[in-house]
Amino acid sequence: DEVIFSGIQPTGVPHLGNYLGALRQWVKLQNESSPDTILLFSIVDLHAITAKQDPKQLAIWRKAMLASLLAVGLDPKRCIIFAQSSVKQHAELMWILSCSASMGYLSRMTQWKARIIDRMMQNWSADILQSKLALPENASPLQHTANKDAVKLGLFSYPVLQAADILLYNTTHVPVGEDQAQHLEFSRDLAIGFNHLYASENSTPLLVVPQTLLSPAKRVMSLSSPTKKMSKSDPSPKSRILITDSNETIHSKLRMAITDSIEGVSYDRGKRPGVSNLVDLIYHFDESAAASPEELAADMKDLSLKALKERAAYKINLGLREIRSQYGELMSGDQKQLIERAEDGAKRAEEIAEATMKRVRNAIGMGL
Ligand code: TYM
Repeated sequence: DEVIFSGIQPTGVPHLGNYLGALRQWVKLQNESSPDTILLFSIVDLHAITAKQDPKQLAIWRKAMLASLLAVGLDPKRCIIFAQSSVKQHAELMWILSCSASMGYLSRMTQWKARIIDRMMQNWSADILQSKLALPENASPLQHTANKDAVKLGLFSYPVLQAADILLYNTTHVPVGEDQAQHLEFSRDLAIGFNHLYASENSTPLLVVPQTLLSPAKRVMSLSSPTKKMSKSDPSPKSRILITDSNETIHSKLRMAITDSIEGVSYDRGKRPGVSNLVDLIYHFDESAAASPEELAADMKDLSLKALKERAAYKINLGLREIRSQYGELMSGDQKQLIERAEDGAKRAEEIAEATMKRVRNAIGMGL
């Protein structure tokens, strides 16, 4: 049977990258999957603290993320929605897996390196960089990141926790954006290695090896530097559109979006990253308008870039209107009900996770 699992960090309200790259796909899978398919979506708060978080803010964002997941259309009657930290088996399996994960493989993974380098490229002032990386005062960020002293163990082993998330639930499919592809490859390799070490020959597979499901909008780009992905951690709020942004905010962020000085509209992600990103956004919010982004760009070739931005803002607002109002209602409504829903999800998740852990504990010699 199919099991679909995915996660999102509660480090802000989801942006268009999260929405088009992941959340919208989750809702589609929910609506189109057979009733036997198990769907789990986790608010991965243990991952969130691999970057420095303000505890009060994190508490708010955990709730805001739950409201966001419900607002985009996930149905807690159909899916198991829960906070990662409330199912302790994640941490337990992570430890066990980390005893067979190689340092060499982890240090070759690009994402944690990219995170640090990103911060530096964005020209953050030394003190912001220092606080984000939780560096000691007076430390030179460059020097410290260069010799890796400042990199926390949790950030380094981030992919092992992500593998544990997935493998706990016998996941067959993981719907994510492209930036997660390398982490999923690692999860697969870890599962195969672990099975090889511990699975007895005639038993059913110890850990199920998961497949990656990339969404059609696999990489949404930043509005202010369109050669980089849209990201929650970009210091510039105008680089991203949140799923809760008002119509005015959407329009004003799009008016400021970086494009180029070539006249008219055409599609070329390499040569015209800003313009192509806007075409992509229109396409993904209105897939019936054209067969492909290329075709859509050809239809719009005579539009001015100002008009292209207007059209993008219009389509995005139309696509987000309902989500925004749902989110507003959930956040201003009965908070107790939100929390009860989350606890209910955690109980159902824990049942599946515990069954996997029994198998794993037995296999490694820690069964009763
Ligand atoms: P996170 O919280 O950064 O992002 C959540 C989802 O949004 C997708 N995404 C994007 N897709 C397209 N374009 C973008 N600009 C863009 N930005 C983000 C991500 O690919 C992701 O699907 N490590 C994960 C969370 C995680 C997880 C897991 C995911 C933890 N455990 C297990 C899957 C399975 C992360 O930081 O996602």
